[in-house]
Amino acid sequence: MNNSGASMRHHKKPIISPLRYPGGKASLYTRLRAIVRANDLTAGTYVEPYAGGAGAALGLLVTGQVRRIVINDLDPAIYAFWKAVTSEPLAISRMVEKAELTVSEWSRQKDIYLNAPRDDYLNLGFATFFLNRTNRSGVLNGGPIGGMDQTGKYKIDARFNRSTLVERLRLISLHAKRISVTNTDGMTVIKRYSKRENTLIYADPPYFEKAGSLYLNSFEDAHHSSLAACLNSVSDAKWLLTYDNVPRVPELYPDRRREVFSLNYSAHRVTKANEIMVFSDALTVA
Ligand SMILES: C[S@@+](CC[C@H](N)C(=O)[O-])C[C@H]1O[C@@H](n2cnc3c(N)ncnc32)[C@H](O)[C@@H]1O
Repeated sequence: MNNSGASMRHHKKPIISPLRYPGGKASLYTRLRAIVRANDLTAGTYVEPYAGGAGAALGLLVTGQVRRIVINDLDPAIYAFWKAVTSEPLAISRMVEKAELTVSEWSRQKDIYLNAPRDDYLNLGFATFFLNRTNRSGVLNGGPIGGMDQTGKYKIDARFNRSTLVERLRLISLHAKRISVTNTDGMTVIKRYSKRENTLIYADPPYFEKAGSLYLNSFEDAHHSSLAACLNSVSDAKWLLTYDNVPRVPELYPDRRREVFSLNYSAHRVTKANEIMVFSDALTVA
């Protein structure tokens, strides 16, 4: 594999997701790999109920750390993208190769993103991907990099390296049979997979304070509480959770082990953010 493709340069943290995700968790790869090994889950299934860019999941899968992954996201546009990548990889790759990187194409893709039937996975999935790669910070409701008049320092094509992206799509397609893609509420996925053996669930729900306009739907406090009730009720399953480090987290998970950590967070600039991990009782923390 060539270095300009799915980047393995920092081979501790393979970059495989084609999506840009503010706060993406691909950088937790090394930590998650240690947890997978310590819990003897290398022949098991790794589940992301709030997958977004699914960077960590894909890294673990293609480097052979786990046998299967589940990518779930409630956002129909994100779901359509993953569905298209795993079921129609050649078609979506061809669209990536041919895409015109212009503001008028951006407007056309924005219209498809807003109006395409939600089950037109290929067109909706491609429009989602196109906007994710051409919008400022990858935020789907943001404007194009460089502005509508393209007078900014960086232009609309700044994050659209076709060969790198096509290579990532190809790599994912090679593993597609071992990827399940679903579009349901994260708690439904947690309930379903917490009953299974050989399974690790990593929940990365919308954060308390950072979510805002970054994602389609930010959680209300009621969602955070019901997620906590759901996860706390299955503490005999193997799961971990990450959040922004706010006082509400220890309040919601008073009986669980917790650990504060830092991640390079880049929504608009690179900063060190204080985040927190919560672990189920059954998990061996490594
Ligand atoms: C913090 S992001 C996950 C980022 C991801 N870990 C990554 O590395 O790219 C949260 C994701 O949860 C999705 N989401 C929001 N509410 C949801 C729900 N109730 N069930 C499932 N997914 C949901 C959002 O669409 C968003 O993609």
